[in-house]
Amino acid sequence: MKKIMLTGDRPTGRLHVGHYVGSLRRRVELQNTGDFDDIFIMIADAQALTDNADNPEKVRQNIIEVALDYLACGLDPEKSTLFIQSQIPELCELSFYYMNLVTVSRLQRNPTVKSEIQMRNFEASIPVGFFTYPISQAADITAFKATTVPVGEDQMPMIEQTKEIVHKFNSVYGETLVDPKILLPDNAACLRLPGIDGKAKMSKSLGNCIYLSEEPEDIQKKVFSMFTDPTHIRIEDPGKLEGNTVFTYLDAFCRPEYFPEFLPEYENLDELKAHYKRGGLGDMKVKRFLNNVLQAELEPIRNRRKEFQKDIPAVYEILRKGSEKAKTVAEQTLKEVKAAMKIDYFADEELIRAQAEKFSE
Ligand code: TRP
Repeated sequence: MKKIMLTGDRPTGRLHVGHYVGSLRRRVELQNTGDFDDIFIMIADAQALTDNADNPEKVRQNIIEVALDYLACGLDPEKSTLFIQSQIPELCELSFYYMNLVTVSRLQRNPTVKSEIQMRNFEASIPVGFFTYPISQAADITAFKATTVPVGEDQMPMIEQTKEIVHKFNSVYGETLVDPKILLPDNAACLRLPGIDGKAKMSKSLGNCIYLSEEPEDIQKKVFSMFTDPTHIRIEDPGKLEGNTVFTYLDAFCRPEYFPEFLPEYENLDELKAHYKRGGLGDMKVKRFLNNVLQAELEPIRNRRKEFQKDIPAVYEILRKGSEKAKTVAEQTLKEVKAAMKIDYFADEELIRAQAEKFSE
């Protein structure tokens, strides 16, 4: 079977370091292994509209921001198809048919949708489109016959829902859809990178994100203001690592080669952590190290982004071409789905012949 990767992001803002360690970095690595027969990276504008229906301009403006972040991270249009969800109408058609295979109570149990409903104060009146976006996400994944979906932990319920739809579809209509596998980050810090304030959720409205395109001074400002261990007051005090954002970020970003480069008095992260726990290591020293690490990680991304920003029409052209290719692939899947569902009347000569025979008797 072909190996196909698909994933995507809602264009509601620039992408941040949580997106990066949660999925983006992995996508680029996987892209560059050459192991995949096809790779689809989708800007999920239609999904973004499910909870931004009254703010289309925000979604429109952020398409290019996300595309630039993708290219800056090393997604390569020669190897990966970058496309825009709304330009593939076949996805709506698939969603419409999948809706018959999902119950309202099953959607109500989706923990990610539940918490999003709370966060957006949708309790009293949930838009139907928002409530059903997990079904449209199943269409995104199955339209491209994705086998691998690299995403953050919060997307796990969507992949489970997709798998259920695939199983149900295949058992009712015959083997048609491909069962996808979720690919989560293997490092706990990357699974759920907190905001700089230590809050579990990184979000623009909380102002606690470090963006991929952040300027060096702002990265430093944010690192220096990070939440650490509030009981670690004097340098001599023993410090805690759990819930200590600076160490969580080091777990997500630190590479062995950064020690000789930036902090040669320690061998590795374990030694640094042990010293912090014992006492005698100040927060500022660890923050300075993390700042160096993040600067080293983000500088090449920021520089590449600036290069792509010089030719914005070329970036739109990448998306246009990618959307065109994505559409042909989704068209083929939709054809197979309609045949399996017996709604391919005009393509089925056997049907017409048999009906003719029936009525001639
Ligand atoms: N739900 C994803 C997010 O919030 C975006 C998305 C839409 C997606 N369709 C997808 C991710 C399909 C992976 C596969 O970022």
